[in-house]
Amino acid sequence: MKALVLAGGRGTRLRPLTHTSAKQLVPVANRPVLFYGLDAIREAGITETAIVVGDTGDEVRAAVGDGSDFGLKVSYIQQEAPLGLAHCVVIAREFLGDDDFVMYLGDNLLIGGIADLVAAFQSSAYAAQLLLSRVAEPQFYGVAELDADGAILSLQEKPDVPRSDLAIVGVYMFSPVVHEAVRAITPSARGELEITDAIQWLINRDHKVHSYLVSGYWKDTGRLRDILECNRILLERVEARTDGTIGGRSEIEGRVVVHPGAVVEDSVLRGPIVIGAGTKVVRSYVGPFTSIAEDCVIEDAEIEYSIVLGSSTIRSVPRIEHSLIGRDVEVTGTSRVPNAHRLMVGDHSKVQLRA
Ligand code: DAU
Repeated sequence: MKALVLAGGRGTRLRPLTHTSAKQLVPVANRPVLFYGLDAIREAGITETAIVVGDTGDEVRAAVGDGSDFGLKVSYIQQEAPLGLAHCVVIAREFLGDDDFVMYLGDNLLIGGIADLVAAFQSSAYAAQLLLSRVAEPQFYGVAELDADGAILSLQEKPDVPRSDLAIVGVYMFSPVVHEAVRAITPSARGELEITDAIQWLINRDHKVHSYLVSGYWKDTGRLRDILECNRILLERVEARTDGTIGGRSEIEGRVVVHPGAVVEDSVLRGPIVIGAGTKVVRSYVGPFTSIAEDCVIEDAEIEYSIVLGSSTIRSVPRIEHSLIGRDVEVTGTSRVPNAHRLMVGDHSKVQLRA
């Protein structure tokens, strides 16, 4: 069994971060979302892995390398444009050979791993195995319609009128017959070779396609609120640990992780939170479900339920919530008049100011 991880694509919904960075590398609980998928692949006993990359390939290569940090043997496949999930299978033909494989979307987070699912697939004669999860807004996903016995009747990609609330999770298992399917289909209305259409092609030709309802937690981290929610779920699982320095009149409550070289002074930290290496928190409040990456400065500020990427500064700001703040960003307050907001905000940014 091999693994094909998809880490190309555009990431338009996470702009401006994804203008320059891979959406699969946005950190949740201070670790790129892609890394959790790589862990899951390794834990399922798979080592041979190819990662499909696009414009942000260099960054993904730099983060994952040859995969040895994950116990994997990783190679890379460059996709010239995001032409669809099934297109990724087409270009991975040589790597995949005639092996079964798991296709893992690099921006998906599935808690609980895939070991049982891989084992179930390997002892089956299924052409493909899907995971489904009930969602509130199925129109944003691939959607499966099942019959009374749980067999798949049809699959649709982001339908305007979904036939069920069962979304297709971005972790698929395939036998080599899928190569016939991905070559047989044509691009969808959005110009992509859809894996959903390839699986429907298999179903139409009476190949066995099995689906499981995921019991654990699953999220596609493509949207801001989903990333913040994933961050919350992962922070719920951290063990308290202080490797940095906590001084002054600081108060630490709940599960707080302070990485080496981080300094906390005269601040209130209310877990679960993670403070990255080399970050300084001074006269500030960091509230539940916040991940602050490395080398940041949080001074005379309050922040909660947010993610801050590396080397950013938040200074003299009353309260930030539900926010994703990129790398090398400065958010600062001022007492100067006129009492106005001064912004230098990049393209496709979203800023919400109190009216
Ligand atoms: O997350 C689950 C959903 O993923 C499924 O319910 C949908 O059926 C499936 O089509 C997919 O929908 P998305 O619109 O969320 O896919 P997205 O374009 O975000 O791509 C998923 C991952 O694959 C992401 O890490 C980027 C990568 N990708 C995507 C495309 C289109 C590539 O590497 N190459 C591509 O050509």
